[in-house]
Amino acid sequence: MLTKAPRGTNDFLPGEVEKWHYIEEKVRNICKIYGYREVRTPVFEHTELFSRGVGDTTDIVEKEMYTFFDRSQRSISLRPEGTAPTVRAFLEHKLYAEPQPTKLYYLGPMFRYDKPQAGRFRQFHQFGIELFGTDHPAGDAEVIGLAMDFYGSLGLTKLEVRINSVGCPVCRKEHKVKLQEFLQDKLTGLCQNCQGRFDRNPIRILDCKSENCRELTLGAPNTAGCLCENCHNHFHQVQKYLTQIGINYILDESLVRGLDYYTNTAFEIIYQGIGAQSAIGGGGRYNGLVEQIGGQMVPGIGFGLGLERLLMTMEHQRVNIPIEEKMDVFVITLGEKADEAGFTLMSKLRRAGIRADKDYLGKNLKGQLKQANRAATDFCLIIGDDELEKGIAVLKQMESGEQQELKLDAIEEYLITQLRG
Ligand code: HAM
Repeated sequence: MLTKAPRGTNDFLPGEVEKWHYIEEKVRNICKIYGYREVRTPVFEHTELFSRGVGDTTDIVEKEMYTFFDRSQRSISLRPEGTAPTVRAFLEHKLYAEPQPTKLYYLGPMFRYDKPQAGRFRQFHQFGIELFGTDHPAGDAEVIGLAMDFYGSLGLTKLEVRINSVGCPVCRKEHKVKLQEFLQDKLTGLCQNCQGRFDRNPIRILDCKSENCRELTLGAPNTAGCLCENCHNHFHQVQKYLTQIGINYILDESLVRGLDYYTNTAFEIIYQGIGAQSAIGGGGRYNGLVEQIGGQMVPGIGFGLGLERLLMTMEHQRVNIPIEEKMDVFVITLGEKADEAGFTLMSKLRRAGIRADKDYLGKNLKGQLKQANRAATDFCLIIGDDELEKGIAVLKQMESGEQQELKLDAIEEYLITQLRG
């Protein structure tokens, strides 16, 4: 128990963690290109933020949140997603008072207590963006375009963009009535949760994971058939902009997202090669959310991309991730005095930006050479007590095996020209 991480969580060890660095660098790069700036919010928030924001009849809030009372008896939840916290920060710090739009991105762990399986974890990581302050359909296309450019920058192909419009509150009202009519005589067959959702939020029934509910909702009326003229036009424009920037998409009228805040455009990005959990990203517009959390009416749109699923996709497509973990030089010492001098020299080299290491376990020459080979260094620097007396060290070029004697005070400069020059 003590030596086992909680179910559904992962350790990322050296060798693996470099892949995360690589992805994170791509995230920062694409956000810079598109003009999005990073926001870091706490990993826990007041529970009410999610029950109001994400929706208290969603699976996430009903069944999947890590909720606890802190020592002051406040209900706290680990964030299951990043949009509601970003909206909270947008309001708390009055970012709406700055010239609009506000373009934010985040990168970090999210927590959902769901049944772990391939691609589904209890602690997972998202790269998300949120664009506040514009309802322009080009904004929707920008957000989807950024996601696809990000995946493209990693060399991924064969991804599907599925889009739908879930309409505005007016269209939703009409959809709700049609849905209730459709489900009325199937009500007793639905799971307990869905029976409870029937009056309050029947659209959630379309998102239920129970096999039975899924079967009973086949052929249910979808939002696309209930769009008002404004929503219809907006969706049409979004598609036009997507086509204009060369993004292929599939219209998926059955697409309902698992969070309540969406209005108009909703989308998912799917990769079929990684099993049942094939949604590598999802998002949409949420024009009512800022108001719902206590602000003025500020439109917004964004996405969240799952980074574990992204790594699975990269692995499946055999995307090569360049990992640079080589050291520049390994300092080998023979004798007590040489060992002390070697330590000082290594520190000096490190301060000059040279990746240097040495043994601390008192290994013999063979053992130190073995360690140098394991570290795959370009050079080995050998100092014995005899060399030390002469004020020199032997520098060995590992690949060619060539050796030369160098003055101790000339080593730093020589290595810098060899390595960086
Ligand atoms: P979401 O669809 O719930 O949306 O999550 C986005 C992505 O996070 C999913 O497509 C998936 O790749 C990943 N993900 C979700 N749950 C798990 C899990 N248990 N294990 C591994 N990966 C997972 C949101 O979270 C919205 N906040 C997105 C958004 C931003 N909408 C507007 N702005």
